[in-house]
Amino acid sequence: MSSVNESDTFKLGDRTVKRLGYGAMQLAGRGVFGPPKDHDAALAILREAVASGVNHIDTADFYGPHVTNQIIREALAPYRGDLVIVTKIGARRGEDGSWIPAFSREELTQAVHDNLRNLGLDVLDVVNLRSMLDVHHPAEGSLEGPLTVLADLQRKGLVRHIGLSNVTPAQIAEGRRICQIACVQNYYNLAHRADDALIDDLALQGIAYVPFFPLGGFTPLQSSTLSDVAGRLGATPMQVALAWLLRRAPNILLIPGTSSVAHLRENLAAGQLTLSPQALAELGGIAS
Ligand SMILES: NC(=O)c1ccc[n+]([C@@H]2O[C@H](COP(=O)([O-])OP(=O)(O)OC[C@H]3O[C@@H](n4cnc5c(N)ncnc54)[C@H](OP(=O)(O)O)[C@@H]3O)[C@@H](O)[C@H]2O)c1
Repeated sequence: MSSVNESDTFKLGDRTVKRLGYGAMQLAGRGVFGPPKDHDAALAILREAVASGVNHIDTADFYGPHVTNQIIREALAPYRGDLVIVTKIGARRGEDGSWIPAFSREELTQAVHDNLRNLGLDVLDVVNLRSMLDVHHPAEGSLEGPLTVLADLQRKGLVRHIGLSNVTPAQIAEGRRICQIACVQNYYNLAHRADDALIDDLALQGIAYVPFFPLGGFTPLQSSTLSDVAGRLGATPMQVALAWLLRRAPNILLIPGTSSVAHLRENLAAGQLTLSPQALAELGGIAS
């Protein structure tokens, strides 16, 4: 039997974080646009996460836009010394809420300064360059230009560590020739496993892999196998989906998103779940 302790950690840049973190995207309004329905509830979720030991929060200034970062600052500043806030740049929002590529030197520099101002920081812990060559999926194409801009901002002392998001293995290899890459953030979960080989390769290199949509994102995971395994364990399907990710590889850091304190507690408790070899085999068959 294997079990994962919530206190399990992995390296993120020069910091060590718990493998169960929190993704703040659900704190903005509907469609990740505008203010949340319940501002105080959003503050409460962040405070509960940190009080529960979460020391890795994922965000972006284009959530809202600006809203999520401003809520993080209101809830948590002055920040606890062990808290690592990871943000991303490379997109901006249209007036209708659309997601627009923002890869010029001016836009990337502006995005770093927007994150610093709205989070109330002098330096950003980790900034992911989010590829927008295709909004939804990794698409081949050089990221040298924007990554060079981000590396320049790092040299100026505004950014500690750089990561990549929505990228292919070729883009990660290109990126590692330009600067050190601390983490990769791509779409991955129990049912969507295009990055299986990449995860194992990054584990060998000691690079963190941070799956976005770990619970399925806007269409949460649904599977009778997942429900059966969860039922036998006396757990919820979402807890089992997270526990499976923690078992999948040691370099996986989780940032499940939620706008509910009850779901936050449930998700953090997934770290205590034990999955038998039989359960792991059943869950491993879901993607096929
Ligand atoms: N790099 C990128 O391109 C990218 C893209 C998307 C997201 N992200 C990051 O990844 C993080 C995670 O992704 P995500 O929030 O979009 O998707 P997710 O974590 O896969 O799922 C969030 C959805 O699951 C629901 N949920 C959460 N916990 C639950 C539980 N215990 N039981 C039932 N439902 C539950 C949430 O609803 P409730 O609010 O009702 O709990 C929400 O609808 C984001 O917060 C963001 O920081 C990055």
